Amino acid sequence: MKVDVLLGLQWGDEGKGKIVDVITPKYDIIARFQGGPNAGHTLEFNGIKHVLHTIPSGIFHDNTVNLIGNGVVIDPIILKKEILEAQKIGANLKENLLISNKAQLILPSHRILDKVYEETKAEKKIGSTLKGIGPAYTDKTARIAVKTGDIFDSKCFIEKYNNAKSHHIKILNGYNYFESFDELEKQWFDAVEFLKQFKFVNSENYVNQAIKLKKSILAEGAQGSLLDIDFGSYPYVTSSNTTCSGVCTGLGISPKKVGKVYGIVKAYCTRVGSGPFPTELTDEIGQYLRDKGHEYGSTTGRPRRCGWLDLVALKYSIMLNGVDKLIVTKADVLSGLDTLKVAVAYKVNGEITTEMPYDLSSISEIIYDELPGWKKDISKCSKFEELPVELHNYLKYISVNTGVKIKYLSVGPDRSQTLKI
Ligand code: GDP
Ligand code: IMO
Ligand code: MG
Repeated sequence: MKVDVLLGLQWGDEGKGKIVDVITPKYDIIARFQGGPNAGHTLEFNGIKHVLHTIPSGIFHDNTVNLIGNGVVIDPIILKKEILEAQKIGANLKENLLISNKAQLILPSHRILDKVYEETKAEKKIGSTLKGIGPAYTDKTARIAVKTGDIFDSKCFIEKYNNAKSHHIKILNGYNYFESFDELEKQWFDAVEFLKQFKFVNSENYVNQAIKLKKSILAEGAQGSLLDIDFGSYPYVTSSNTTCSGVCTGLGISPKKVGKVYGIVKAYCTRVGSGPFPTELTDEIGQYLRDKGHEYGSTTGRPRRCGWLDLVALKYSIMLNGVDKLIVTKADVLSGLDTLKVAVAYKVNGEITTEMPYDLSSISEIIYDELPGWKKDISKCSKFEELPVELHNYLKYISVNTGVKIKYLSVGPDRSQTLKI
């Protein structure tokens, strides 16, 4: 069996957690391959709302293994909290959670560096979640990272930890930061001890063996394609490859083993943090989407910027990922709007283009198509035929213009509010 992939096609928060939870019964293994606690993946079932940051979103299904792959960066303090919360609502993490020995640890000093770097950037700040993601991945390429596999050899662990920490302290002192972080360190080492009771594996061997044994595997993306370190709106991006290529390096599989690619797209767009956002709405429609869609960050609580669906950006993400099927979420949020706009081209340097330009801030005008909206509350619709004709047309429009079929439509946050198309 090949590894299917499910990832976000916009700037994150497309509803990945919800959809992974819905389709988990089809899979033996759900694996996160990149990112870390900057992610906030929300699941809702039986009246419970749950937000996961590091743990894959299949964890609430008893018969599924959930793997944190080598490409993920883990903050032990956050993972410990997450585990305790998931256990409270019945998840069997001792059995169903596996952590790669090659996943990297986010150190307390990474979090501090993230904050200091952002403060220094002032109005040019990225709008990072301040979870230490950028500084942690920096250490990976600088070859001074501490991996989860190091925690079982205490001498080597402390040596590697101190080496990275003293490097960070030199940088921090250069920024005139001299505060102690002893308390945070204590919590961190306690959390590392706590994690030792869970299963650590050589995940690249585990995944490839599972492929041989014909296990079904889903790779769960974090963030979104437009936040990719190579192809996103750089420098306003995260520090990992959020696109499909990240699956190979983040799990240790050959590109030949990548199966179906499912791309999740919100029926409109959101972005949290700084950076260009061509279709952003700063008017009352933007506020309508934010209020109706509860568009506030799952990790930081920050209000999300909202805007119209952007086909130029969507087609770019589809191209980068080789998307086989689309999954459209939050269609219910659009109910009540008279007209829906969709960006189909940009004007750059006086010319109309349907290509993503190198610099999104060079866009001087957006060309929109307009489609009629619908009034009906669709959150209780359970069949495609019950949906208003205008929504049928909106979905058809997306599918025809991207050349990709839509597999699922989400009409509310709950597991049950999902329609197969
Ligand atoms: P993720 O990071 O991609 O997993 O997405 P988030 O969990 O950060 O944000 C998506 C938000 O929308 C969460 O609050 C979900 O509960 C919610 N959500 C997901 N799908 C739908 C939907 O179809 N309709 C509505 N109204 N909310 C949804
Ligand atoms: P999920 O998985 C939305 C954004 C931040 C910031 C930029 C860099 O829930 O979709 P970082 O902390 O990575 O240094 O922040 O990326 N960002 C996200 N936006 N959803 C996410 O994850 C995000 N993870 C990071 O807001 O603009
Ligand atoms: Mg999120």
